[in-house]
Amino acid sequence: MTAPKLSLTTTTADEATVDAVIIATVQSDSDPGGVALAPGSERVDTAFDGALAGILRTVGATGKQDEVVKIPSMGKIPAGLVVAVGLGRTTGDGPTAEQVRRASGVAARSLAGTRRAVTTLSTVDLHAAVEGTLLGAYRFTEYRSEKGDAPIERVDVVAPADGSPKDHRATLKAATAIAEAVCTARDFVNTPPNDLYPASFADRAAALASDAGLDVEILDEKALRKGGYGGVLGVGMGSARPPRIVRLSYKGPKPKAKVALVGKGITFDTGGISIKPAATMDEMTSDMSGAAAVVAVMVLAAKLKYPLSLTATVPMAENMPSGSAYRPGDVLTMYGGKTVEVLNTDAEGRLILADAMVRACEDGPDYLIDIATLTGAQLVALGRRTSGIMGTDEFRDRTAEIARATGEGGWPMPLPDELRGDLDSKLADIANVTGHRWGGMLAAGIFLREFVAKDVAWVHIDIAGPAFNVGGPWGYTAKGGTGIPVRTVAALLADIAEKG
Ligand code: BES
Ligand code: MN
Ligand code: ZN
Repeated sequence: MTAPKLSLTTTTADEATVDAVIIATVQSDSDPGGVALAPGSERVDTAFDGALAGILRTVGATGKQDEVVKIPSMGKIPAGLVVAVGLGRTTGDGPTAEQVRRASGVAARSLAGTRRAVTTLSTVDLHAAVEGTLLGAYRFTEYRSEKGDAPIERVDVVAPADGSPKDHRATLKAATAIAEAVCTARDFVNTPPNDLYPASFADRAAALASDAGLDVEILDEKALRKGGYGGVLGVGMGSARPPRIVRLSYKGPKPKAKVALVGKGITFDTGGISIKPAATMDEMTSDMSGAAAVVAVMVLAAKLKYPLSLTATVPMAENMPSGSAYRPGDVLTMYGGKTVEVLNTDAEGRLILADAMVRACEDGPDYLIDIATLTGAQLVALGRRTSGIMGTDEFRDRTAEIARATGEGGWPMPLPDELRGDLDSKLADIANVTGHRWGGMLAAGIFLREFVAKDVAWVHIDIAGPAFNVGGPWGYTAKGGTGIPVRTVAALLADIAEKG
């Protein structure tokens, strides 16, 4: 799919010769009908002789979040259509970045099939409007014979009143790169598991990465055996499609810190011999969302030239039941030598991650970030839209705060020591599951902690729910892969680049 082309404009919305003008509305207690125009719509309103809010109210606009109301402009402005998109309720500080992002996404989606629009939401928050527009326009049509309406072709973004043209260009460029990275991750997640399996995923990731100038290494099954990657090999054993580990590295100018990224790349999770029920098993095509995000962020880092040293260690495997599959009861010797008793083959993510995390720590990173669709317990604890964020205290809290600031959502969760005893194995160093269902997300985090080197600041992001939207589109989020947590990790890396 082709993304819309965005360009900055100094032409105001009331004068632009485009097909549609995007303005925003807000819910308000003090205005008639409970709806008011948001900042940025002033000149369009003037062209309508100050009657725009009244007209919108007449046709039912309320300013509610995600509402779209379209009215013909009847010659008042060159654009034929006014698209009024609701921000919801705002505070005295004006609309939040997330409100702008979300409304921009809704507007862009509602304009599929249109050639050109101009948005005024960019005057409120340029970065958020650009991200929201590009993310909202996203569609995955690779596998459809009938592609339907194409995404809007061009969106002119009105520059904010403050800041220099140079700043505006830099903001447009950065926000565009970030949105593209999210779309890259979404494309990977949305590609079905018959086409995206470990070897093909590795090849596609390698191609993108080398185009971006990253160093690339692919460990195939032979290299994995030679290296002693027992976790990845064990999980991959049941599949006719052998596992891989992709290693990417990037060295920015005057690096401020060394950061290691690890992402779970289970290209399909049947559960293995501990097989999952049939209902919704298809959703396990998204079990490589952590890997997708890591690859996308590495490419983004090279594009935005973060002053950091980055490595990515991305384990990829397909978890299948078969005559060659690993069994409940097996003991795996992981990379680095720790042994794990497998009590449930459906707790496979932590096994491939453990290998990758030990390998990642060998490079002596200051920070380790792992991302995984790891547990159904994440959904039970936090729902579909809030990632579970665990790890060393400070880095965990820093990540959670940034996750919320980006609008992706996330909440800090503890790693209670008493759960470690529940992972004691009758014969190996550790078991891969506890014997109970309590705190499943935390138990997985406790397991992973065993494979983090001392003195590394570590964060583990469980995106089981947030990575994949099984419902309809909303805001700037399409159905299917969401690209979470690309924007969080990008913002976290930017924060580390700035503060160390
Ligand atoms: N990939 C799943 C977790 C998952 C569940 C992701 C739902 C997205 C949506 C993971 O490999 C898994 O199966 N976890 C098990 C662990 C259990 C056996 C301890 C789970 O959560 O049920
Ligand atoms: Mn599983
Ligand atoms: Zn899984």
